[in-house]
Amino acid sequence: MVTSIKDTIHLNNGVDMPQHGFGVYLIKDEDEARPAIAKAVASGYRAFDTAQFYENEALVGKLLKESGLPRSDFFITTKVTNPKQGYDSTLRSVEKSMKDLQVEQIDLLLVHWPSKKHFFETWKAFERLYDEKLVRSIGVSNYEKHHLEKLAARSNVKPAVNQIECHPYLAQKDLRAWLAEQNIAAEAWSPLGRGAVLNDETIGGIAEKHGKSPAQVIIRWHLQHGTIVIPKSVTPARIAQNADVYDFSLTDEEMSAIDALDRNGRTGPVPDEVYEKI
Ligand SMILES: NC(=O)c1ccc[n+]([C@@H]2O[C@H](COP(=O)([O-])OP(=O)(O)OC[C@H]3O[C@@H](n4cnc5c(N)ncnc54)[C@H](OP(=O)(O)O)[C@@H]3O)[C@@H](O)[C@H]2O)c1
Repeated sequence: MVTSIKDTIHLNNGVDMPQHGFGVYLIKDEDEARPAIAKAVASGYRAFDTAQFYENEALVGKLLKESGLPRSDFFITTKVTNPKQGYDSTLRSVEKSMKDLQVEQIDLLLVHWPSKKHFFETWKAFERLYDEKLVRSIGVSNYEKHHLEKLAARSNVKPAVNQIECHPYLAQKDLRAWLAEQNIAAEAWSPLGRGAVLNDETIGGIAEKHGKSPAQVIIRWHLQHGTIVIPKSVTPARIAQNADVYDFSLTDEEMSAIDALDRNGRTGPVPDEVYEKI
């Protein structure tokens, strides 16, 4: 049972990753980012999820340094963006990410989207970065089961994590169950459905019963399913609220009631369409 924001998931390569982190997509403005990251650190977040695509690696690196906490306290994830996929360009792009983030090693490096064209070359570069210990763990994002099966046939290192769109309206039950069998950790992006799920009546009712907010109930649902969760907010009160989910738990009935809200409510791109295009 999850008990604190310090709880970790033991990844398949032995690395411990915080189960509850902070997403920084769209946090690009320094005046907005500084109080947000400071509040996140003060609220207990130690895992930060960025990406080359977010164009904020340098800002995140700088603000985490400004926090005064040692580098070893943080778990930093970044992702190789679609136009940088391929062997050489992946290696070059990660070198730049490390410089921007001001780190000697990235904790988790993800392939942002599956690419038919660069499928194996990008992963070969990831394996090299992993062998050279420039990254502590490697994984993927937006991979379906068949992408992971294809990768397994011609790779040496198994992805540690698959970061996928996941929230009560796109619960990803089958993929999560399969990932668990494969010992690949599931990580939920847009865990709050980018706000879409927050007005749901069922979730509202459960929230009221516990004296918590809908966002807190949804974060708790992810955590109790064993999913890694990275809610994003720039609003200090919400950042603190999203971390304050360890003084209640959802019953089996409440978990099932939220599971039943699943409706294929995808908000982002369809992975197979991206795979064919990039
Ligand atoms: N791998 C991928 O392809 C991928 C794709 C998308 C996202 N991600 C990652 O996942 C992270 C989270 O996803 P996301 O940013 O798309 O969406 P999200 O975390 O599901 O939702 C963020 C939205 O919810 C609002 N919000 C946050 N906490 C709230 C609360 N307690 N009450 C009410 N509203 C609240 C935020 O508003 P304010 O900020 O205005 O407070 C923001 O509009 C991203 O930051 C990124 O790191 C990865």
